[in-house]
Order: sequence, then structure tokens, then C-alpha cells
Amino acid sequence: MAVGIFDSGLGGLTVLDAVQKRLPDVPFVYLGDSAHAPYGVRTPDDIYDLTTAAVQRLFDEGCDLVILACNTASAAALRRMQESWIPSDKRVLGVFVPLIEALTERQWGDNSPPREVAVKHVALFATPATVSSRAFQRELAFRAIGVDVEAQACGGVVDAIEEGDFVLAEALVRSHVDALKRKMPEPDAAILGCTHYPLMAQAFQDALGPKATVLSQADLVAESLADYLTRRPEMIGGGTGSTFLTTGDPKRVSDRATQFLRRQITFTAA
Ligand code: DGL
Repeated sequence: MAVGIFDSGLGGLTVLDAVQKRLPDVPFVYLGDSAHAPYGVRTPDDIYDLTTAAVQRLFDEGCDLVILACNTASAAALRRMQESWIPSDKRVLGVFVPLIEALTERQWGDNSPPREVAVKHVALFATPATVSSRAFQRELAFRAIGVDVEAQACGGVVDAIEEGDFVLAEALVRSHVDALKRKMPEPDAAILGCTHYPLMAQAFQDALGPKATVLSQADLVAESLADYLTRRPEMIGGGTGSTFLTTGDPKRVSDRATQFLRRQITFTAA
């Protein structure tokens, strides 16, 4: 039917926006599990149960390919889903690998041994569950050597964004960046490892200073999806137009989404 895009709430809209710009003719079904956000403070079992239920909903909607536009689900649930849950005619892709391939200067499918890369000091900002999974460091270690990663769990930022409280979100970003800088004073690259955080990209860049390059995960995922669909065009499905589903209050979620993307987005109940 269409390509599914899943997030715990509104953050995946940053990915949806980039993929729609890159692939304007592809229909998408977005599902935000706002009734259960944030995921980042939940246990891996809880994240797995919620993510599989949401992805099943997208399969039922007719999606053969689902993008987990959620680092927390990608970090805490995707591997287990791939090992034992995903039916053989469906695909579920995460958002970590495109980012790590860009950071480590690799093309898709380059499985050569880990090697030295240009970046040496990487700051990772993510949810508590993503940080404690160490999935980012694990994926990076397959591809690069000599990269020092300092991870900062950014408690509270997702809740503030979901509530639309950008003053609080900005104050929290500043304090999380200060905490990171006490551990790593001069990162060369910063990864916003939660799809909600690009909505606060300027606050991260201002707090980090001009020397740190803030990597845009959404654009990298869009590029990687475009490449995947060139190889697997049958995964696009046959739908027309994009739809938006939420487990939360559709009116409230639509208002926030319209505010974030600066265009009318109308959610219906999942
Ligand atoms: N936007 C999600 C992520 O990329 C999830 C945030 C959350 O629900 O805590 O990690």
C-alpha cells in the first residue's frame, strides 16, 4: 500500500518530512504512538512490545516496508524483531545504520573490516534507553576504529517537545550539552540520536558552538531509503497519498504536527 513510518510520537515527523521531500511520489503511512510516548524511559521489553504492536498496525494498513523513525525502538527492539518476529515478506529498517555509514564514510553494504575515519570525538545525544542499549557504539565498532564516543542521555527533552513546551526543551538541551562538554570539551561531530531532537537543532548547535558538526539523521535516512527503493521498488506498494495515524488525541496531535512542520497535517485515530 505505502511505506510505513513509525515513531513513539511526533519526532518521526522530522524523518517523514525529509523522506517526503526526497521521494515526493511515494505514499507514506505515518504512525505515532503518542499515547505511550516517551519510549526512552521504558524497559527494552516494554519498547519491544509497543514497537511490535505499532509495526503490526502498519502491516495491517498494507505496508510491506516500515521505517522505525525512532532511535529508541531501533536501538532497543529492532535486532530482536529481525531475529524472530518480522514475516519473511516484510521489511523493517532502523535509523541508526545510515547515520553510522555517513559518519564512517561507507557506502551501503560495505562490510569491510573497521578502519580509521576522519572524526575522532563524537557526542551522542539520545534518550536514556538508547544510551543504555549501547547500540550506537556497537554498530560503530563494526565499521570504525579510534573513535571516542561520549553519550549523553537527554532526559525530559522528548516530553517537553510532545507537550509543545519549547522553552523547557531549550533549557534542558543547554543543560545536557553542558553535561556532555564536561566529559568531552570539544566534540568534532554531534549526533542528534533521537528523531525529536532535530526540532531543537538550533539549540543544540548554539550550545555546542560552531566547531561541532551536527549531523542530520533525517536527510541521511531519506537518502538511504531512496537508494533502498531503487533496489527494491516493489516495496513502495500501490497506495496514493499519505496518511497519519496516532494512538493519542488526533486533534491535539494534528495541531502540534502542523506547528512543527509548518504545513497542515491531519491525524486520525489509529
Ligand atoms: N523519537 C524517538 C527516538 O528517536 C523516541 C523518543 C521517546 O519516545 O523517548 O528515540
